[in-house]
Amino acid sequence: MEKPTIKSTLDLLRATETAAIAASKWVGTGDKLSADKAATDAMRDRLNQINFCCEIKIGEGKKDESYGLFSGETVGKLCNVKDVRHFDLAIDPIDGTRPTVTSGPEALSVLAIAEQDALFTTEAYYMHKIAYGPDIASKVDLCLTDPIERNIELISAVTGKDLSKIMVCILDRPRHEEIIKKLRGMKVRIKLIQDCDVSGAIATCLPDSGIDLLYGIGGSPEGVISACAMKCLRGAFKGQLVREDGSIDVSKTYSIDDLVKGPCAFAATGITNGSLLKGVRFTSRGPVTHSMLMRSESGTVRFITTHHGN
Ligand code: FBP
Repeated sequence: MEKPTIKSTLDLLRATETAAIAASKWVGTGDKLSADKAATDAMRDRLNQINFCCEIKIGEGKKDESYGLFSGETVGKLCNVKDVRHFDLAIDPIDGTRPTVTSGPEALSVLAIAEQDALFTTEAYYMHKIAYGPDIASKVDLCLTDPIERNIELISAVTGKDLSKIMVCILDRPRHEEIIKKLRGMKVRIKLIQDCDVSGAIATCLPDSGIDLLYGIGGSPEGVISACAMKCLRGAFKGQLVREDGSIDVSKTYSIDDLVKGPCAFAATGITNGSLLKGVRFTSRGPVTHSMLMRSESGTVRFITTHHGN
């Protein structure tokens, strides 16, 4: 039997495709729990058909009353085989449950795989994040401990862009009011997103997105998943954990290599239409999905349209 490796990524894509199709049946229904259950069950079922054994390190949030896959669960066809190589998995069957059930933009089904014990885990619900693309990362090291104004000035200096041409992507949340005020004061453009900051982080690496920086506080599971994506895209990502009282623990900034050690692969499939990927479309010949598949070792980034049979 062929030994499982991180190269066997097409199988991973099947898992996000299946979850996205299952979730898409709940688009616009307002029923978050059913959407989540459908996507999670479909992803688990598909992962259990793959010739590997993975431990879920980043799973669904128990706080969300979700149906699993929780961290600690193992998935894969080879989990009962002695001495089989194990991997770590980070999964989010739906990143953007709200846009899924309100038929809003950008919902994705995502997962990332890495070597055993390579993925960072934390009890912290939120992470303070900064992400930017390879063009900026090759010239400057932006710091979460620096004021946002300093980081924006550095971006302007290395890109040659006037401040008014710089675009920062940020979750539209009351906790970001202060940062938004500062950015507005600098005349920097802001793309306010309602959800899905994984897609916002990836956008900083795509030249056509127009987004230079993702900044602010979002989910920590999504932070680890974003770090995997950014490792594949050669971008930069840093995170600091947010304490339960909402304060940021500035004593430690996690780099991509802290969040995912060694090689990784990343797969995402669109559930609803977004700037990164189109959502699932149903045709008389079956569903059509749009996905992204990447590997850190090679740096390959594949955009894949799949026509699924009836
Ligand atoms: P889920 O749909 O998986 O719950 O996450 C959506 C999301 O927008 C993430 O992309 C983001 O990191 C997080 O929620 C932000 O959390 P909150 O909505 O609590 O501000």
